[in-house]
Amino acid sequence: MSLKIAIIGASGLVGRELINLFEKSKKNFDFLLFASKNSIGKKIKIKDQEYFIKELNEKEFDGLDFAFFAAGGEVSKKYIPIAVNKNVRCIDLSSYFRMDKNVALVIPEINFHSIKDHMIIASPNCTTTIMLMALYPLHKKYNLKRVVSSSYQAASGGGKKLLDKLEKDTLNAIKTNKNYDYGFNIFLHESRVNENFYSLEEEKMILESHKILDNDKIKISPTCVRVGVKRSHSLSINAEFEKNVDINEVYELLEGFEGVKLFDKENKRFAGANDSTYKNEVIISRVRKDLFDNNRLDMWVVADQLLKGASLNAFLIFEKLNKF
Ligand SMILES: NC(=O)c1ccc[n+]([C@@H]2O[C@H](COP(=O)([O-])OP(=O)(O)OC[C@H]3O[C@@H](n4cnc5c(N)ncnc54)[C@H](OP(=O)(O)O)[C@@H]3O)[C@@H](O)[C@H]2O)c1
Repeated sequence: MSLKIAIIGASGLVGRELINLFEKSKKNFDFLLFASKNSIGKKIKIKDQEYFIKELNEKEFDGLDFAFFAAGGEVSKKYIPIAVNKNVRCIDLSSYFRMDKNVALVIPEINFHSIKDHMIIASPNCTTTIMLMALYPLHKKYNLKRVVSSSYQAASGGGKKLLDKLEKDTLNAIKTNKNYDYGFNIFLHESRVNENFYSLEEEKMILESHKILDNDKIKISPTCVRVGVKRSHSLSINAEFEKNVDINEVYELLEGFEGVKLFDKENKRFAGANDSTYKNEVIISRVRKDLFDNNRLDMWVVADQLLKGASLNAFLIFEKLNKF
């Protein structure tokens, strides 16, 4: 019997990508698709089978094996406890449960071992996942001490609404020659700013990294801004390690790590955000030793945040849990 899976947020940017991954999977599953009231009745095809999007209610979790939550924190908050009560294992893409000590926060290539009998497994913040994929193979060898990360984040990281806003504001700015928030502009990530002047997105990068690496001593200084890019986040990272780094060994470590790819090292070409769209790998270029410190490195990292930063990470958790 095939597993019965719910995708909540099936009409969203992340939900759609998750469906694409299931579409390409060699395995077959039974699906139930949910979204908001606005999408009820819309059809989505997965492997020649048509599914109608339904409205979520408690009864829908009866008889399910897995549920992917990609519909925001409030939906996860309300429905994950109900699903878990009905013995449905949940993979949550929202931030709601990530820091809960009873919830595993997982990047499969890094800390799959942290999943025990957890019924809720959270997929981390997209920028955090991309940063840690680039740093983890080096951390294992040299022990990470401090990270300064500036991220240039795509509109789709904020869901359909923000992507629409980028398109509208850009067109309006061209038409009117006036300033629009998201037309030819960069600005601090739109999440709430805390008393310490760090945004919630930046705070997630610190706290979630500590949980995933099981080490809260690593000093992390993030700055997250939105740029006029539709898809794929870019990160400029300066990382300090406890040990001196050897640049050739750094290349080897990165090349040997699953899910990471070095971009055109031979020709010293650098990857732009668009070089990573629709790609599964986290793409690294401009790896260079800090000119002032032997235990520091600089690198430029780009990745499709809708894939490795969200849907693909959740899908890999699911595949590994089921040993596919
Ligand atoms: N975008 C990213 O890069 C990214 C990365 C990591 C994590 N995430 C997380 O993934 C989740 C989805 O993000 P997204 O970018 O896909 O957002 P999105 O494009 O805005 O899609 C949101 C989805 O949730 C559905 N939804 C909204 N309210 C609902 C409700 N009350 N009940 C059921 N479904 C509801 C929407 O349905 P309608 O289409 O009918 O409105 C839509 O399918 C969020 O929790 C986000 O934080 C996103």
